[in-house]
Amino acid sequence: MTVANLDDVRAMAARRLPKVFFEYIDGAAFSEETARRNVADFRRIELQQRVLIDVSRRDLGAEYLGRSRPLPFALGPVGFSGLFSERGEIKAARAAHAVGIPYCLSSFAISSLAELRAATDGPLWFQLYVLKDRDLARRMIEIAIAADVEVLCVTVDTPVGGLREKDVRNGFRSLTRVTPRLALALARKPMWCARILRRGIPQIGNLADLPEYGSNALEQAARLAAHIDASMTWDDIAWIRRLWPGKLVLKGILNAIDAAEAVRVGADAIVVSNHGGRQLDSASSTIAALPRIVEAVGARIEVLMDGGVRRGSDILKALALGARGVLLGRTYAYGLAADGERGVAQVIQLMVTEMDVQMAQMGLCHLGGIADRRDELLRFRDDVPA
Ligand code: FNR
Ligand code: LAC
Repeated sequence: MTVANLDDVRAMAARRLPKVFFEYIDGAAFSEETARRNVADFRRIELQQRVLIDVSRRDLGAEYLGRSRPLPFALGPVGFSGLFSERGEIKAARAAHAVGIPYCLSSFAISSLAELRAATDGPLWFQLYVLKDRDLARRMIEIAIAADVEVLCVTVDTPVGGLREKDVRNGFRSLTRVTPRLALALARKPMWCARILRRGIPQIGNLADLPEYGSNALEQAARLAAHIDASMTWDDIAWIRRLWPGKLVLKGILNAIDAAEAVRVGADAIVVSNHGGRQLDSASSTIAALPRIVEAVGARIEVLMDGGVRRGSDILKALALGARGVLLGRTYAYGLAADGERGVAQVIQLMVTEMDVQMAQMGLCHLGGIADRRDELLRFRDDVPA
């Protein structure tokens, strides 16, 4: 099948993956209002067409988190990626590193940080979930230091797991073993089963050999909610700041008050994020929250964003509204499920092509200074319902 855009990739992912895992990627909390708004609010922003500007040479480079990067986006943390494709984390990281962009490994990945580091030498970020066992967080930070991780990304919007109704219906995160119903659902995708279940149900690499979390990914997914530390506060971030010598990013900030706290505790950057609408439903979309946060703290801390980025033009809009960089979530997870490393590479290329074409049509040759020209480049439509 020819892939013209991300919808095609998503459709392919839906055909390849057992429904329980496709819907885990695709789904969001409760009524999924925030997840929908993340996408829809990008559509309310118009781009200005400009003509007769020499755009024959274009550069998509950007600088964020201490380095010049060839592209303004990175692959964000997506848990359980190794269930979407065999060794999925390694494949996604390789596709990212092939174009020189960072890959952020989730705490809840099938591949461990050490395995991933052995498989690729590009820029690695690590996303940390602080569980009740604080010593585990400390050990993970030590492993990240040893693996030459450049950015530690602490996710702060998950004091309790979001309730995703598709997961409730499918039993994901409540089943601890393969029930007959799940076996039937998996059997519909024999190719997936042949590749992923060869050695039984995989497990979360970073929790391997810790039986209290379960012995396979299903059990681990079901038990994680009970292990999340809901008592975590800003003081604990200060503790992490002392342990971690590299760049520290807080992911899951959605308002200026929390953004100011992030500055206070010494974070290097924040990711304006609502976890892809998977946590607080009815929360604001991230693209709507971004300008207020940039205005409040943009001069004191780097602001990145994620949520609802499905087109190259979405990345341009986020940058024009002050984001220094953008993280992809579902967008590359669909690519991974559709066609492994090649699928992720294809999604990255889609974003690049779309950005490049749209930049030229806006009269832009590079991304530097785009936020200073926001009023000239963007217009907000108020006739489109939010
Ligand atoms: C996520 N996300 C996520 N975030 C995180 O900090 N740790 C994690 O383990 C995960 N796992 C995860 C799994 C899946 C299947 C999805 C879809 C998302 C959230 C992710 O990093 C990001 O914030 C959102 O995906 C961004 O929204 P979009 O672009 O997917 O709409
Ligand atoms: C999720 C968790 C893993 O969004 O962060 O599913």
